[in-house]
Amino acid sequence: MIEGRYETETGKRQFVRDLFNRGARHYDRIGTVGFLGTGSLYRRLALQRAGLVKGMRVLDVACGTGAVTREISKIVADPTLVWGADPTPGMLAVAHKGLEAQFVQGRAEELPFENGVFDFLSMGYALRHVADLSVAFREYRRVLRPGGRLLLLEITRPERAWVRFLAWMYFGIALPPLSFLITGSRDASEMMSYYWETIDACVPPHTILGALEQSGFKQIHRRVELGIFSAYGAVRD
Ligand SMILES: C[S@@+](CC[C@H](N)C(=O)[O-])C[C@H]1O[C@@H](n2cnc3c(N)ncnc32)[C@H](O)[C@@H]1O
Repeated sequence: MIEGRYETETGKRQFVRDLFNRGARHYDRIGTVGFLGTGSLYRRLALQRAGLVKGMRVLDVACGTGAVTREISKIVADPTLVWGADPTPGMLAVAHKGLEAQFVQGRAEELPFENGVFDFLSMGYALRHVADLSVAFREYRRVLRPGGRLLLLEITRPERAWVRFLAWMYFGIALPPLSFLITGSRDASEMMSYYWETIDACVPPHTILGALEQSGFKQIHRRVELGIFSAYGAVRD
């Protein structure tokens, strides 16, 4: 829970949905400028490292405006095999407009799909919005076929004090006003303020790794870049 933002899980869900609904049309622009255009390359490399190849049937959970979905589509090379799910209508509307894939409204904890229908499942930068990781990971296991692969991208609170300081300077101090400058929107700047708050309070790696193991995933591993960007991979047995 982030103090001062909401007090209950229902309040949090409503807050997050409203925040992303209002910020949706600015999300991609902030992503491009704020991360100097590196976000799409990082996402693509992470997908390839996790074993995504042409012809796989893929679900991108928390697809938002489609930042991960777009890279999936390039690799899979067939839009009929690519699905995105997200609870926020505003984010889905942007994704729908800019991308050829199937988009549905849905939460990680309750996915609107049959059992065992996907070869690969991804989730980018949304674990921090999920109340109970085990519930979401059981859903991921359910919709993946045996041998199906999982990729979770998430920011990790840096362990080293100086990395934490730099992260705070950039994400906490610089990015919210920079987002306002780029977009002229207070909603965009609030979305980025909350982004930092959730990084600072985000789920620690051992909790994510433990929940994956408890949910029955195998070959679980984590790769970290710059002490802050984590990619978690696993395989459904
Ligand atoms: C920071 S955006 C990430 C978008 C995209 N995956 C990316 O890599 O940029 C977080 C997204 O998580 C979605 N979200 C929030 N709670 C969720 C939940 N319980 N299940 C799935 N998605 C959720 C939000 O609607 C939002 O679109």
